[in-house]
Amino acid sequence: MLLGVNIDHVATLRNARGESEPSVIEAAKICIEAGANGITAHLREDRRHIVDFDVFSLKNDLKCRLNLEMAATYEMKKIALDLLPDSCCIVPENRKEVTTEGGLNVFAQKKEIKEYIKPLLDAGIKVSLFIDPEKEQVSAAAETGAQYIELHTGAYSRAFGTKKETAEFLKLSQSASLAHLLGLNVNAGHGLNYRNVSRMHEIDKIEELNIGHSIISRAIFTGLDSAVKEMLSLVNKN
Ligand code: PXP
Repeated sequence: MLLGVNIDHVATLRNARGESEPSVIEAAKICIEAGANGITAHLREDRRHIVDFDVFSLKNDLKCRLNLEMAATYEMKKIALDLLPDSCCIVPENRKEVTTEGGLNVFAQKKEIKEYIKPLLDAGIKVSLFIDPEKEQVSAAAETGAQYIELHTGAYSRAFGTKKETAEFLKLSQSASLAHLLGLNVNAGHGLNYRNVSRMHEIDKIEELNIGHSIISRAIFTGLDSAVKEMLSLVNKN
């Protein structure tokens, strides 16, 4: 199973100060050097974390495998066709949401999505549709021409360790099996963390997991010790 690291929240932290630290590119470089298989960045309409400069630097300077998460808007399509990332994951976007809340309703907008992604596919970009683990969404996705779906693992992640876990897990595994049967490649992500991620191994159809918040959060704790020690060595030097 592959790991794509979502680095949006490195940009969230950077933007909190409006300066250049922490560097998104440096963070992505460390992720790749640590063995991550790719970098995911969500360029939101309101640019609340990742900005245009970040995605172009990731593509042109770091040259890592880049998955651009984006809403199905005219502006984003234009950027994607300029940028030519390895893949685009189409997500629904709502200005007020804290993070992507639900999956894309492909079932209700099959024709529009098919038309929207065609130029991306023609440009050689792999297209993934971020959907809830529901049969009708998977079937609809298979009719759009997209090669991938990304199953929304948010409900499973929240249900982990509760009575609802099995039901949510089954939705994911059944959706992955159906997608595979229909010729789709399957990725998954959202809300996965160091406790709930291991069950994803039980779904052998999943090719890649996209994980962000838990990794960036963990990095604060695993890196804080050495960051303080390094600063102490500078503060105490006399
Ligand atoms: N996949 C998609 C489509 C997402 O929108 C996000 C959040 O930006 C993720 C994966 C990663 O989610 P998390 O940050 O909860 O790991």
